[in-house]
Amino acid sequence: MTLSDPVSKTGIETVLSVEGLRLDLLGSPGQPGLVDDVSFEVRAGETVALIGESGCGKSITALAILGLLPAVVAVSAGTVLIAGEKTTGAKARRLAALRGSSVGTVFQDPMSSLNPTMTIGAQIAESRQLHLKESRKVATEKAIELLELVGIPNPRSRAAAYPFELSGGMQQRALIAAAVACEPQLLIADEPTTALDVTVQAEILELLKSIQERNGMGVLLVTHDLGVVAGVADRVVVMYAGETVEQAQTEDLFASPAHPYTRALLSSVPQTGKRLKPLPIVPGRVPPAGAFPQGCRFQDRCSYMVPSLCLDGTIPVAQVHPHHESRCLRIDEVVRSERTP
Ligand SMILES: Nc1ncnc2c1ncn2[C@@H]1O[C@H](COP(=O)(O)OP(=O)(O)OP(=O)(O)O)[C@@H](O)[C@H]1O
Ligand SMILES: [Mg+2]
Repeated sequence: MTLSDPVSKTGIETVLSVEGLRLDLLGSPGQPGLVDDVSFEVRAGETVALIGESGCGKSITALAILGLLPAVVAVSAGTVLIAGEKTTGAKARRLAALRGSSVGTVFQDPMSSLNPTMTIGAQIAESRQLHLKESRKVATEKAIELLELVGIPNPRSRAAAYPFELSGGMQQRALIAAAVACEPQLLIADEPTTALDVTVQAEILELLKSIQERNGMGVLLVTHDLGVVAGVADRVVVMYAGETVEQAQTEDLFASPAHPYTRALLSSVPQTGKRLKPLPIVPGRVPPAGAFPQGCRFQDRCSYMVPSLCLDGTIPVAQVHPHHESRCLRIDEVVRSERTP
């Protein structure tokens, strides 16, 4: 083991480590970052849900991790380690090699990720040939096995189909097969089931879970759906206006949210059973990037806001307990009020 080997104190391997990430929109000097002070980890075998309202910076964070930022956005601070390898500042070629080998990706729209001019089988086989140096014959057989694994009927004949010949649900399964083809240590899935109907959604999530149990990959799951979070996530990272504002084990987060934003998100959700709904509407709006206020970014929507505390400087992350943190100066009041009916 080297010094940089990211094995956590619990002995679990850290497959993704994001530390103090800041992303800036080029040409907007002096403005707060689009994303700032974002830190979290994903360990092997673990599913971490990344949640927050639209525009909070979930996708742009995922793109930064993958080295796929749009040209107008740059990493200006922080570090990303994938399976212990520093990827911030890495060469584009190295990042491209990691995508598809150590990291698999599943995005919302399978047709934008699948190559329309290649058969499904050839696409999956090609990535194994490229990253695992398998022969075409071996890779093609593996591709058929993978299509079977993701529940595509008649995988041998389906391998010869083009993406447009498959239904939306089957395309998403094929995309998952492609994403896990090289047995990545990390899978980043950005709203992988949003475009699918509820039954297919559940099947796809079940599928991801079963692949994870087989290969122990860590999963970063960007989602709007609190039912999905409760059903599949081990831990939750909450983002608000470009910052991580709370993170905790899923059960702790639902039972005892320690940031007013998380409380607001969860407040209209029934706490019993798993009949949770997509993110509810919190009164007010997320401030647009470039208009983030000084002090706490949630200040104008927060019922715990105290002008003497919350309107200046930057708000640090504080520990609620060792595995639960919140970016709030009034954690004690938030947690205490949570306990009083
Ligand atoms: N290509 C881009 N160029 C410039 N700014 C961008 C780009 N993509 C995203 N942004 C900005 O980054 C911020 C975060 O957007 P992002 O897409 O990460 O939000 P999100 O949390 O994924 O939202 P949603 O839930 O709607 O997917 C927004 O202010 C957005 O305007
Ligand atoms: Mg998004």
